[in-house]
Amino acid sequence: MRFAVDSLNRNPRSLLTMRVSAAATRELLDLRSEVLRWARVAVPGDEAEAAMHVAARDQQGRAEGVVSFMPHSYPERPREPAIYFLGMAVRQDRQRRRTGSSLPAYVLQRGREHGAHVVWADARESALPFYLQLGGTPIGSAYRDTVTGLVDRRVIFELRR
Ligand SMILES: CC(C)(COP(=O)(O)OP(=O)(O)OC[C@H]1O[C@@H](n2cnc3c(N)ncnc32)[C@H](O)[C@@H]1OP(=O)(O)O)[C@@H](O)C(=O)NCCC(=O)NCCS
Repeated sequence: MRFAVDSLNRNPRSLLTMRVSAAATRELLDLRSEVLRWARVAVPGDEAEAAMHVAARDQQGRAEGVVSFMPHSYPERPREPAIYFLGMAVRQDRQRRRTGSSLPAYVLQRGREHGAHVVWADARESALPFYLQLGGTPIGSAYRDTVTGLVDRRVIFELRR
């Protein structure tokens, strides 16, 4: 499964109201470290050949939020095509304006286009309500992430119903 940059924003049925386009490495790392307080450098998965890093932008083209995603099988269903996303961050002064929602919506849209059955993430528990309102399902109990040190919950989005 590969994601072509030139097909970004092509789907007219997209839920997006924000412009989403490829994110530069500096935008990505700055927002991750400013908002998430981790990942001043690339994290495992960033280097994957098919990884996509995207930003939701304001009218001036400034990145307000970023997320990264890549084909990566969901451990419970290893034979099914799946997409994993990480590093979801919205600039603090731009939160609660639906910028964040536009990013998983974008990932789900791309997942559908590529025939993924499931989209999943390891979400910090404090962000769980955000993922639930997008249709995500929490799986299992909370655990401490060894990379970030945060308490996380796994969240999945079923694309095949
Ligand atoms: C979580 C985050 C990505 C959400 O982005 P956002 O642009 O603020 O979210 P949206 O405006 O799209 O929120 C849509 C809805 O999600 C829910 N929601 C969003 N943030 C929430 C929060 N902190 N607590 C509870 N519900 C929340 C609300 O229902 C909200 O609707 P409302 O504003 O009408 O009540 C953003 O707040 C952020 O970057 N937080 C810090 C880093 C983080 O937690 N990242 C996620 C890592 S897994």
